Amino acid sequence: SVAPASWDKPLAGKVAVVTGAARGIGATIAEVFARDGATVIVADIPAAGEALSETANKVGATALALDVTAPDAAERLAEFATERFGGIDIVVHNAGITRDKLLANMDEGRWNSVINVNLAAPHRITSGLVAKGVLKEGGRVIDVSSIAGIAGNRGQTNYGASKAGVIGMVDAEAPLLSEKGITINAVAPGFIETAMTAAIPVGTREAGRLMSSLLQGGQTVDVAETIAYFASPASNAVSGNVVRVCGQSLI
Ligand code: NAI
Repeated sequence: SVAPASWDKPLAGKVAVVTGAARGIGATIAEVFARDGATVIVADIPAAGEALSETANKVGATALALDVTAPDAAERLAEFATERFGGIDIVVHNAGITRDKLLANMDEGRWNSVINVNLAAPHRITSGLVAKGVLKEGGRVIDVSSIAGIAGNRGQTNYGASKAGVIGMVDAEAPLLSEKGITINAVAPGFIETAMTAAIPVGTREAGRLMSSLLQGGQTVDVAETIAYFASPASNAVSGNVVRVCGQSLI
C-alpha cells in the first residue's frame, strides 16, 4: 500500500550531510533537503569558510569545515554528526573538482588530486561511516558522477576516470550496502550552470549546453530534486542506479 507519509516534509527526522555544499549544486541540495524537513550538515573545505557559513545560515543548516580528502574525514564527520544529532541517515558525496589538461600535459598532480577528491574520498567516507555504524538501516548514500564519466570529455582524462569510477563504485557497493538496509545511487549531471562550468571556455560551454537533454544548461535545482528523490522514502527499493540529469548520452 502507499505509505501515508507526509509528502510535505518527506525527510522529517532525518540527518543529512552534503559535502562541497558552500556553493553550486551542493548548496542547492542542502536547501532542498532543508525544505523537505531534514536536519542538514553542510561540509566544505576550510578555505570556503565564509561562503559555507552563508549557505548554512541561508538554509538553516549546520556548517562543518571538512576537506573530504583528509585521512580522518569519516571519523571527524561521524563524531560531529553523532555528538550533535545522534548519527547520519543521508550522505551526499557532492564535493568535486576539475583539473583539465590534454593528455600530454596531464601530470601526476592533476591526476591524483581529481581522483582523490572525486573518487577515493567518497569511498573512504562511505566505508568509514558504515564500519562505525553511523549510517544505519534505512540509510542513503548518493554520489555525484557526471555525464563526463559516461561519454568522456576532451581534456578530462582525470575527471572522466573519476566520475566513471564513481559509477563502478556505486554498482559494486549497492549489493553490500543492501545487506545493511542502505541504498546507494548516483546522479550524472550534464551541463549545469555553476562556478565550475563558468570557468569553461565559451565555445565548449555552448557545446555543453546544446548536448544537454533540454538543449540548454541545467540549473542546480534540477540535480538537487533528483537527489531529493534518492533521499526520500519514495525510493526505498531503488539502489545501484545512475540517473542522468540534463545530460543525454553523447554517443
Ligand atoms: P563548484 O565548484 O561550484 O562546487 C564544488 C564545491 O566542492 C566547492 O564549494 C568546493 O569548495 C568543494 N570542494 C572541493 N574540494 C573539496 C574537498 N576536498 N573537500 C570538501 N569540499 C570540496 O561545483 P559544482 O558545479 O557545484 O559541482 C558539484 C558536483 O557536481 C561536483 O562533484 C561536480 O563534479 C559535479 N558535476 C557538475 C557539473 C556541472 O555542470 N556543474 C556536471 C556534472 C557533475
